[in-house]
Amino acid sequence: MARQVHTVAVIGAGKIGELMLSGLLRSGWPVERLLATARRPARARELADRYGVRVVDNLTAVAEAEVLAVSVKPQDAAALLDEIGPKVPAGKLVISLCAGLPTAFFNRRLPEGTPVVRVMTNTPALVDEAMSAISAGAYATGEHLALAEEMFSPLGSTVRVPESQQDAVTALSGSGPAYFYLLVEAMIDAGILLGLPRQVAHELIVQTAIGSAVMLRDSGEHPVKLREAVTSPAGTTISAIRELENHGVRAAMLAALEAARDRARQLAAQAD
Ligand SMILES: NC(=O)c1ccc[n+]([C@@H]2O[C@H](COP(=O)([O-])OP(=O)(O)OC[C@H]3O[C@@H](n4cnc5c(N)ncnc54)[C@H](OP(=O)(O)O)[C@@H]3O)[C@@H](O)[C@H]2O)c1
Repeated sequence: MARQVHTVAVIGAGKIGELMLSGLLRSGWPVERLLATARRPARARELADRYGVRVVDNLTAVAEAEVLAVSVKPQDAAALLDEIGPKVPAGKLVISLCAGLPTAFFNRRLPEGTPVVRVMTNTPALVDEAMSAISAGAYATGEHLALAEEMFSPLGSTVRVPESQQDAVTALSGSGPAYFYLLVEAMIDAGILLGLPRQVAHELIVQTAIGSAVMLRDSGEHPVKLREAVTSPAGTTISAIRELENHGVRAAMLAALEAARDRARQLAAQAD
C-alpha cells in the first residue's frame, strides 16, 4: 500500500469488532497497524491467537492508535468513555459502531472538537458483503469520512447518510440480515410441511435467496418488476401472494422496522 496506513484500534472487539478486524486483515491492512481491546482475558487471548493482532488495554490503544473504532454494546459505551475519554488526544478520529448512539453522545465525553464518525455495518461483513452506512458527527470532515470509507469498503458496500437517518438504517440494514434468516427459516419449514426433506428444502431456498439477491443487485430492476415476472395470471405465485397479503406480511414488515427504529432510540436514551 503506497498510501499512509493508520493504526486502527478496535475497542471492545466482540462480534462486530472481530468482523472489522478480520475484514481489514483480508483487505491487506498490515497486522502491525491493528490493535484490539477486550474486557475478558480469555477473549483477548482468542483474538491474539486467531488474528495475530496485538491485544492491549484501552488506554494503550488510545495512546498508540490514530483511529479508535468503538464496538462495545451501547449500554457499555458510557463506562468505556468515562475510562478513555479524558485520555483521548484532541483530533484523534473516533469511529462508533454502536447502534443507536448519536455522535453527540461521544462528543459530550471526549475532548472538545474530537471528530466522530458513526458507522452502522452488518454481519455479512464476514463474507465481504456488508452494508455500511457512514455519517459525520459535528467535527468530522470529508477526510474523516473518506478514511472511514477506506476502512469499510473492503467489507462490502458503503453509503453516506445524514446522521438523522442512522436509526432507520439500524432498523433496515443493521438488523436486516436477521429478517432474511427468519424468512428463510420459515420457508424451509414450509418446504417440510409440503413433504420435502429438510436438506433439500434448505438447498432450494438458500440458492433461491442467493439468485434473487443477485438479480436485485445486478438487474437494476425494481423488486415489483422482478416479482411480476414470476407472477403469471391465475398461477401458483399469485395464490401464495394472496395468502401473504391476507396475513399482513407487508404491514408486519412496516411495524417491525418501526419497532427496531424505536428500540434504537430507546437504547440510546438508556445509555445516556
Ligand atoms: N451484532 C450485530 O449484528 C450488530 C450490527 C450492527 C451494529 N452492532 C453494534 O455493534 C456493537 C457491538 O455489538 P456486538 O454484537 O459485537 O456485541 P459483543 O459481541 O458483546 O461485543 C462487545 C465487546 O465489547 C467488549 N467490551 C465491553 N466493555 C468493554 C470495555 N470497557 N473495554 C473493552 N472491551 C469491552 C465486550 O467484552 P466481553 O465479551 O468480555 O463482555 C465484548 O467483547 C453494538 O453497539 C451493536 O449495537 C451490532
